[in-house]
Amino acid sequence: MNAKVNINNRAGASFPVRRMNFDFEQVPEYWMNGSAGLTHFMTALSALFPAGEKFFIDSVRAVRHHPALKDNIELQKEISAFIGQEAMHTQEHVGFNASAQRYGHDVETLDGYTDKVIQTTRKLMAKIAKPVGITQEMIDLTATTALEHFTATIASQLLTNSYIQELMTDETMKTMWMWHAIEENEHKAVAYDVFEGIFGKGLKLYALRTSSLVIAMATLFVVQSYFLARLLKQDQQLNFNSLREIYSYAYSPSKGVISGMGKEMLLYFKPGFHPNDLDTHALLEKWKANLGF
Ligand SMILES: [Fe+2]
Ligand SMILES: [Fe+2]
Repeated sequence: MNAKVNINNRAGASFPVRRMNFDFEQVPEYWMNGSAGLTHFMTALSALFPAGEKFFIDSVRAVRHHPALKDNIELQKEISAFIGQEAMHTQEHVGFNASAQRYGHDVETLDGYTDKVIQTTRKLMAKIAKPVGITQEMIDLTATTALEHFTATIASQLLTNSYIQELMTDETMKTMWMWHAIEENEHKAVAYDVFEGIFGKGLKLYALRTSSLVIAMATLFVVQSYFLARLLKQDQQLNFNSLREIYSYAYSPSKGVISGMGKEMLLYFKPGFHPNDLDTHALLEKWKANLGF
């Protein structure tokens, strides 16, 4: 593995923070099975991460000292480790994005767009929801819990879908995505527990969190697809072959990474949903052993 791993659990949480320091220098331009289409698909996803994960951190940090949470020692430890993990993801995806930029793929601009989309959408949603007593903090937290459900779900696809794993032919990149996938599952309940810890349950909160998921997924799909089309076009790779490979990898009903997420994504609509309902413990143990964690 092309990374120096440093694992610590200073927070004393149920999961550690791993500093990875990946070296992306030797990563080839089309690191995913030599395919421009598939590589750009992952780059378009990665362009969402630095600003996206910073937003998750900010949303949770903004409320961690709320009276309902401040004496919950266990949850405070989980929050600290959650922030630590997401900060490391941001750092490594900045490195990943820079490696694509080195080949002339303009991820820097996309990273800026992600931040603009997040800021515009969160403010707009808070404005719309204000008359029914929903605050900016509630909007930010439910957007975070919705997107954390997405990241945990796409992560379990990466960890279980062998077709996708075989396409990740560069070891550094494969390790980076699998490391991220493991950690998304380790901390998948933190934002949700923060949200429920402060705001509780009930019909209004159910309506808020499920509509947040719908809005977040629609926005994510549009933005990631736009990023992908832009990367392909700039690279003169917007052609039938790229689109066919992307369809097969992401959207084909039998083995696609996105289509494979459907069932698990829908669990979020269950009234008594909790992220830990889906037990990924054995899966994580297997992958931690694979990566030598
Ligand atoms: Fe993350
Ligand atoms: Fe996360």
